[in-house]
Amino acid sequence: MILNTASISDTETSPSNAQTNNSTPKQITLARPDDWHIHLRDGNSLNTTVAHAAQSFNRVICMPNLVPPVKTAIEAQAYRDRIMQALEHANIDDRYKLTFNPRMTLYLTDTTTAEDIKLAAQSGVVQAVKLYPAGATTNSADGVTNLASRHEVFSAMQKYELPLLIHGEVTDSHVDIFDREKQFIDTTLSSLVSQFPELKIVVEHITTGDAADFVLSQNERVAATITPQHLLFNRNHLLVGGVKPHFYCLPILKRKQHQQVLLDVATSGNPKFFLGTDSAPHATHAKENACGCAGCYSASIALPLYATAFDSVGKINRLEGFASQFGAKFYGLPLIDERITLVNEPMQVPSSYPYLGQETLTPLMAGETLPWSIKLES
Ligand code: NCD
Ligand code: ZN
Repeated sequence: MILNTASISDTETSPSNAQTNNSTPKQITLARPDDWHIHLRDGNSLNTTVAHAAQSFNRVICMPNLVPPVKTAIEAQAYRDRIMQALEHANIDDRYKLTFNPRMTLYLTDTTTAEDIKLAAQSGVVQAVKLYPAGATTNSADGVTNLASRHEVFSAMQKYELPLLIHGEVTDSHVDIFDREKQFIDTTLSSLVSQFPELKIVVEHITTGDAADFVLSQNERVAATITPQHLLFNRNHLLVGGVKPHFYCLPILKRKQHQQVLLDVATSGNPKFFLGTDSAPHATHAKENACGCAGCYSASIALPLYATAFDSVGKINRLEGFASQFGAKFYGLPLIDERITLVNEPMQVPSSYPYLGQETLTPLMAGETLPWSIKLES
């Protein structure tokens, strides 16, 4: 079941506003963006995901929730090599092959040691460490069951200046799914931040006003990524008129009030908030299923989606900071010289992509028309 344009325009933050806003420029040129949170998966998935990511992004932070997860610097290097191999074989322009720069993460487990952290920091390929509370999301079974026992590891990350990326949701079965992010902030994140004041933390894919407020209340070491789906949609898009499995991701879409706060902070020019698509491929049949997987696939259309979101509130001029500057600044990486142009011309999102040989992959907004597109270079 696919959302149609009419039902999107039911919301005040409608992408279609972009076409009616008189101040909308015809195009915007910005430094080539980075994606600070992406799932490329592994094996044959890379044939699809790497080509899509490389055409839009320069650096991407690759999530480690493979099966089995990426737990050491050696495994991270091997995973990066597989990504680079897929890039070499990708049917895309050579200039994307030259610029695409995957940065790796380690998956924090109950057995990760301070030595693992030290080696990761010294490896030059590991950009950060990802914390999944065990059971919080897709492929998180090996995540942390007891945060208190990871004290030594967080100290090592602080010492070696390796940022901690957090999937911020509690997993207690009695906590309502819509309250899990706020509960995590109240019961876990607040104390973690005060115990490790020098640790750089990214609260990943924030979905609530509570998370935005928390990040705003902290110093510059605490930042957040925001996905295109959490800027453009709310839980009505997921549930009203029938369940739309391609809008199902974790943390789950929240109320419209939360969506509006996310749009406010993302477009505010505050460098604590930057781009992280959380593009997370699952084969179409695994999404359109009685027990559908969590994750929205957006890598191929993420920039038109973000442009649509920013333009919906008349803030397209704030996109470059969010997409191309603030994340690099947080991670202490250089700004990118290469440019990309987005044009205020409609594009049709493909209904699906070939995936894993016989499978298909359905992107967010499949078959729909977006008001912004990436300008093809001659
Ligand atoms: C992600 C996935 O599929 O790996 N799913 C999701 O809903 N976002 C995992 C994650 O980032 O939570
Ligand atoms: Zn993710």
